[in-house]
Amino acid sequence: MRTFHRALVFALIAVNILSPIYMLDFCQSSDLDCHNHDMSSDIQPSAHTYKSRWNISVTNLMKDLDHFRVSSKKLIETFPVDEISGNFVRTVKNCIFSKSIPTPLKGPLKLAALSKVVIEEILDLDMAVTHSSDFLQFISGGRLLPGSVPLAHRYGGHQFGFWAGQLGDGRAHSLGQYKNRKGDVWELQLKGSGKTPFSRSGDGRAVIRSSVREFLCSEAMHSLGIPTSRAASLIVSEEPVLRDQFYNGNVKTERGAVVLRLAKSWFRIGSLEILAESGEIDLLRKLLDFVINEHFPSIKANDPDKYLVFYATVVNETAHLIAQWMSVGFAHGVCNTDNFSLLSITIDYGPFGFMESYNPNFVPNTSDDEGRYRIGAQANVGLFNLEKLLVSLSPVLSQKQQKEAKHILKGYVDIYQMRIHQLFKAKLGLLGEETNDGFLIAFLLQMMEDTQSDFTMTFRQLSEASADQLHSRDFTQLWALEDLSLHLHFSEWLSTYLLRLNRQENEDVDRQHRMQSVNPRYVLRNWMAESAIQKAEMNDFSEVELLHHVLSFPFVTQETAEEAGYAARPPQWAKGLKVSCSS
Ligand SMILES: *[C@@H]1O[C@H](CO)[C@@H](O)[C@H](O)[C@H]1NC(C)=O
Ligand SMILES: *[C@@H]1O[C@H](CO)[C@@H](O)[C@H](O)[C@H]1NC(C)=O
Ligand SMILES: *[C@@H]1O[C@H](CO)[C@@H](O)[C@H](O)[C@H]1NC(C)=O
Ligand SMILES: *[C@@H]1O[C@H](CO)[C@@H](O)[C@H](O)[C@H]1NC(C)=O
Repeated sequence: MRTFHRALVFALIAVNILSPIYMLDFCQSSDLDCHNHDMSSDIQPSAHTYKSRWNISVTNLMKDLDHFRVSSKKLIETFPVDEISGNFVRTVKNCIFSKSIPTPLKGPLKLAALSKVVIEEILDLDMAVTHSSDFLQFISGGRLLPGSVPLAHRYGGHQFGFWAGQLGDGRAHSLGQYKNRKGDVWELQLKGSGKTPFSRSGDGRAVIRSSVREFLCSEAMHSLGIPTSRAASLIVSEEPVLRDQFYNGNVKTERGAVVLRLAKSWFRIGSLEILAESGEIDLLRKLLDFVINEHFPSIKANDPDKYLVFYATVVNETAHLIAQWMSVGFAHGVCNTDNFSLLSITIDYGPFGFMESYNPNFVPNTSDDEGRYRIGAQANVGLFNLEKLLVSLSPVLSQKQQKEAKHILKGYVDIYQMRIHQLFKAKLGLLGEETNDGFLIAFLLQMMEDTQSDFTMTFRQLSEASADQLHSRDFTQLWALEDLSLHLHFSEWLSTYLLRLNRQENEDVDRQHRMQSVNPRYVLRNWMAESAIQKAEMNDFSEVELLHHVLSFPFVTQETAEEAGYAARPPQWAKGLKVSCSS
């Protein structure tokens, strides 16, 4: 690919034929919750085709919190818990958790955002519950739910390539597990809920900025179909928190916030690493057995190779996860081993970012000067983290198994590449397999890099344009394609692509539908988050709500989103935007 000329043709040709943008009325009524997630029907809006995805007809949702019980029993009965109590920083040995009481967020409190889907479909709660003061108390750390023994988890990790020793939940409290009506078990956590024994140099608080970002992004990732932790609520207060947003000595007062977040499990690679590092091998085995038993049901407890099978599963799923990140242009930003879930879900939203112009060197954390966690390095970092996982499993593997595990790890690259290939083929609407498919994808990405065309919208607009439109190069309003088409080799690529599509015995509209169901029109761009955050700081949460809703249907064109410019060329001010790092 490097042999292509990098020269660009800068002649912009104005074309004034209007191409239709398919609009979906946001809602028929004032009720915002009336869209179906089913992408196959989103081209011709009709009031009848959209059943509400959120209008779940579950009855008996809990109407008051008195019936809502969580349990910390399993965790505290399985594992030894720190004997010492109190939220002072210390080195903890021979346990997985320390009991740690959240520090209530000081009022006045304001409920800034709620995820209805999580409240109803995961927590079985009626939305009416969220109006109660009990609910506010509970999500701000002011009151404990029945059954809850709040815990902070001890873990370690490799940060930016180096072993960092004990880390642990420094501003999060695990409230216990909730088993919902579907039988799924979720572990609830408050984030920003005060000091724990692991609050290295911190106050245990989170600020509005980072909390809005976590709330919005975890829900947006879920709607993109990417495994992730979830967020139920966001509450903010007037409590001042001091932060040095860009680590440049400018300390500012910001306001505290707490997110109620959920995952099937919050255990990380670093959860095992700290045990292996400190020689706590019995506990290592215990934690592994617990994780396998709870979350890897296909692995049998009496299988002599169970840890090996576990490893193979994590290797496979991590490769899949990172490939999915790449397919939507998501850079996590802090891929330390302690930010990598053993269940291969996306966790710990910090200085993440969605790439705008295609750029493999995109680094969302502006303080990450060496670009260790640039988007194009994520697959390699995944490999690094899985190597560390293998090191921490070694004490419970035989020599032979260790050898096999190394062999499994070697397969990571192939799994990743195979998955990337599949995902990008789907993004281009390619069916079947032809020898040149890899070339077609790589060619496109190279052109995108050369022309700095927008990652999300280039794929989206290829999905929205008909083959005829592409053929006639009618790119009015298709601004990303217009950028791309300036490439010297665009015509070559386009004709190869159209010929490839032509060989598929498939209606062009089917291709458009297929592609539109995997190429989002809306992702959480930094400028969008930033705009919502600025309003949120002034107690206006309308844009957080708008983004939350829009990003719940990222594949569906929505009028309000179009009005807000979420699929338009990013505003000029977005270019100079720095992602803040402190959280
Ligand atoms: C929600 O579902 C119920 C039962 O299926 C239906 O009667 C009602 O009209 C729906 N409401 C909305 C807003 O779609
Ligand atoms: C690898 O992980 C993916 C994603 O979870 C799954 O669909 C696939 O079946 C797994 N493959 C193997 C061989 O376990
Ligand atoms: C990721 O891990 C680092 C430690 O490696 C930790 O300080 C940070 O809080 C984690 N990031 C997030 C967003 O939780
Ligand atoms: C961003 O990168 C810098 C430099 O490596 C690092 O010190 C900082 O912790 C990172 N930010 C976060 C939130 O991890």
